[in-house]
Amino acid sequence: MKVLLTGANGYIGRRLKNILKNQKDVELRIFVRNKKSLSKEILEHFEIFEGDTFDKDALKKALCGVDTAYYLIHSLNKENYKELDKLSAQNFIDIADECGVKRVIYLGGLGVKNSDTSKHLLSRIETGEVLSSSKNVQTIWVRAGVIIGSGSASFEIIRNLVEKLPFMITPRWVDTYAQPIAVDDVINYLVSSLHLEYDKNLIVDIGSSKMSYRDMMLHTATALGLKRYLIPVPFMSINLSSYWLNLFTPVPFSVAKALIEGLKSEVTIQNDNAKIYFADIIPISYIDAVRKAVQEIQQHQVISRWSDAEGSSWDDIHTKEINDAIFVDRKESDISSYDKDKIFKAIKSIGGENGWFDYDFLWEIRGIVDKALGGAGLNRGRRDDCDLRLGECLDFWRVEDIKEGERLLLFAQMKVPGSAWLEFKIDGDKLIQSAYFYPKGIWGRIYWYIFIPMHYLIFNNMIKSILKNSLKI
Ligand SMILES: NC(=O)c1ccc[n+]([C@@H]2O[C@H](COP(=O)([O-])OP(=O)(O)OC[C@H]3O[C@@H](n4cnc5c(N)ncnc54)[C@H](OP(=O)(O)O)[C@@H]3O)[C@@H](O)[C@H]2O)c1
Repeated sequence: MKVLLTGANGYIGRRLKNILKNQKDVELRIFVRNKKSLSKEILEHFEIFEGDTFDKDALKKALCGVDTAYYLIHSLNKENYKELDKLSAQNFIDIADECGVKRVIYLGGLGVKNSDTSKHLLSRIETGEVLSSSKNVQTIWVRAGVIIGSGSASFEIIRNLVEKLPFMITPRWVDTYAQPIAVDDVINYLVSSLHLEYDKNLIVDIGSSKMSYRDMMLHTATALGLKRYLIPVPFMSINLSSYWLNLFTPVPFSVAKALIEGLKSEVTIQNDNAKIYFADIIPISYIDAVRKAVQEIQQHQVISRWSDAEGSSWDDIHTKEINDAIFVDRKESDISSYDKDKIFKAIKSIGGENGWFDYDFLWEIRGIVDKALGGAGLNRGRRDDCDLRLGECLDFWRVEDIKEGERLLLFAQMKVPGSAWLEFKIDGDKLIQSAYFYPKGIWGRIYWYIFIPMHYLIFNNMIKSILKNSLKI
């Protein structure tokens, strides 16, 4: 069976890819916006098609010859995502129909249309409706609410709130009911949908037991061995809650707001199709899902994180290349007497709980400023203590290039008036550390000059600390 996977770098897509690549009866084809973000193993063993869903020619090439296609696409972090997602789904189903694709499997959100339905959920429903509109292509529309798994946005929000706040003043939305589900169960439904013997459109609502967000927080505290107190207040300020989440959890304001808006209405199962058509799958309980997620984090086995997807096409982000940078802060050190593998290991340990080699408090202040401006701050941390992979985020940076033993390039995703990069290069007997900045307008230039004293402290010490740390490895 030839299967096309879209959204392969996203939270769900990355996990699904790991399962599908080992299925004997599946010939996997991958559709991504940026080939550079795929590992060597994937590039070498699978058919890869690059493009986005707004490019019909690219879609045609990717969809022709395919039996079943997974649609795991959304562009939540774009201002006009509702219109974009609708157009994306329409293009996809039109071309799938033209190419004779038999089945499309889509994962959308749980919940119904009413006056309280959030823009985000409405967009997910609209996408499902568009994908189900073809007379020739069957669509299996799986609908999940809160997904619990290491790195999922909802779980990271709950975990961060529970870990950081012994007392929580909780707005009314904590009493809304939902049916959370473990990410492994979601993947199970998606994989089983490939083999389902049924040829009409189908909506499959999935979830474990019904519970309120309050219960989820309290169960999470139990799973983490913590005692937490929730103090209810009778109002529900979406903006205030979003700022609160922005401050205490890794999600930026825009994502927090989209999620909080969705908490006004219940997201519970509306049909029994999961039990009827997928009787073999019995979702694990919420608390077991939390335990599994925590275990994955502790054992450094986080496969994907909500922040993995780039959110834009490669060209949108990279309007400026590193070579265009106007300001450069470069430091060099002779490393002839050092073990270069250990130096690279030290470089790769940068950020997250490992810290930034020196002056961590300055990085923390910068993180707080970023949060105050609605950015991600430092809360996203690292996926793994030692390992880094291309495209993933690291505090308020993204790994732009990584060549083992040679180069690590980070692209700044903090709120900054311009484009900034931090590069570490091992070139023969030299370690070269460079901070590049392409300023946007006058504010970009003022920003660079204001930060010169901080950069002086941070960057001078950083290169020395990398060498010092390499001796401890
Ligand atoms: N994660 C959850 O907790 C959750 C819960 C319930 C339902 N769902 C549903 O599951 C589906 C997948 O969600 P997710 O969390 O895995 O999403 P995600 O992590 O945000 O990933 C979205 C993917 O879509 C791709 N994409 C966006 N616009 C595209 C375009 N125009 N052309 C091609 N690719 C495009 C992105 O590619 P890049 O890598 O290039 O950015 C990314 O791989 C969504 O329908 C979502 O509603 C998710």
